[in-house]
Amino acid sequence: MACKADVVIEWMSPIPIPTSNNPGFAAILKPSLPLHGPSHMRHLSVPKKETAYWREELSRLGFLEKSHGIHDLNQFRGIPLNDKCPSDFSTKYEIIHLEPIVSGPKKWIERLPRELYLLHKDDWPSSFDQIGEIIVIKLSDSIANQAETIGQALLEHFPSIRLVCEDKGVKGDYRVRDLNVIASRNSNLSFDTIVRENGKMMQLDPSSVYYSPRLATERQKLSKLVKKLSKRLGKKIAICDPYAGIGPNLVNAYDKMYVNQILANDLNPQATPYLTLNLPEFSEIYCTDARDLATTLSKKYDIIFVNLPHDSISHLSELSPYLAYSQETMIVGWALSDTGVNDLITQINDQFSQDDIIDLRIDEIKSYSPSQSIYSFIIHLYLSP
Ligand SMILES: C[S@@+](CC[C@H](N)C(=O)[O-])C[C@H]1O[C@@H](n2cnc3c(N)ncnc32)[C@H](O)[C@@H]1O
Repeated sequence: MACKADVVIEWMSPIPIPTSNNPGFAAILKPSLPLHGPSHMRHLSVPKKETAYWREELSRLGFLEKSHGIHDLNQFRGIPLNDKCPSDFSTKYEIIHLEPIVSGPKKWIERLPRELYLLHKDDWPSSFDQIGEIIVIKLSDSIANQAETIGQALLEHFPSIRLVCEDKGVKGDYRVRDLNVIASRNSNLSFDTIVRENGKMMQLDPSSVYYSPRLATERQKLSKLVKKLSKRLGKKIAICDPYAGIGPNLVNAYDKMYVNQILANDLNPQATPYLTLNLPEFSEIYCTDARDLATTLSKKYDIIFVNLPHDSISHLSELSPYLAYSQETMIVGWALSDTGVNDLITQINDQFSQDDIIDLRIDEIKSYSPSQSIYSFIIHLYLSP
């Protein structure tokens, strides 16, 4: 439905405004009217660049509706006018009727009943993970019985969220997240969702295969490492993730300019369909123990990714068969440690005592608990046959 424009008459400034900063005296511009829903409230439609000026001017006149937001009308902005603004008020710009943008609370916790909020003031979670359309949130014991209210507040606050789940931790060999649904939109309880990570899309179900958005920034660096190694070796390279989950390392690392072989493996059978969906068609996909697969491989790889934080280091020595001989190769991984960088260096060197480590880089990413941190490691190796 087209918006209705009031009659436009010349703007009469109540106070003199210097011509240079008084857009009211600039060339008369009539914006083409945008199409919008039900007409409810008068808005002054001004060129985008003049928004700040007109907002201030309307505020000074007492005509600005401060509790409502400003409409984005492409090259124009619709500034809400209040009831004090006379019906014959006009400027060289049009007054159009738009649905008011009612700005809600800034934080989701402001949507909780006030008394409840105050009762547990220090216990409300300050962060949560968003996985596609799903929010995954940890609840302390003191507020666990408010799960439904919390879920509804989050759904109300984040219109793109469809499911809110309590995170009961990562469990078992498959490191799968135990999720308890606490609220859903339109009764859609499916855990299947799509995440966008560093411009790439992946399909997943966080209740059946491990996925965490927390290492997304770390994964961003993988494509650069791949590109650099490919250039150093002067060829397209083969990349491999023996503990692939739904494949975020490989998805981030893959670039058709630099990669021509992919192997993805995960012990969890539920990972296979997601790896098939998320990786290029030429990828080889397996479902077995990474160490067993190492003994049956017919191909070799230039980079392998290892994200099995509790056991990454202890698995390393059994992963050498994945790597190509007589050239530079890389192992890129993440490990948990409570003894720090120096101890990790010693452990990694011990695992490759027979081989030539060209370079080893270890960085602390963040602390996991008071005693433990997660570290990233990049090992440049030269393996002799
Ligand atoms: C922490 S998750 C990492 C998944 C993925 N690389 C990522 O970063 O999202 C570890 C994965 O290793 C798989 N896994 C555990 N032990 C394994 C093993 N011995 N061989 C192959 N995969 C294993 C689990 O099923 C899980 O998907």
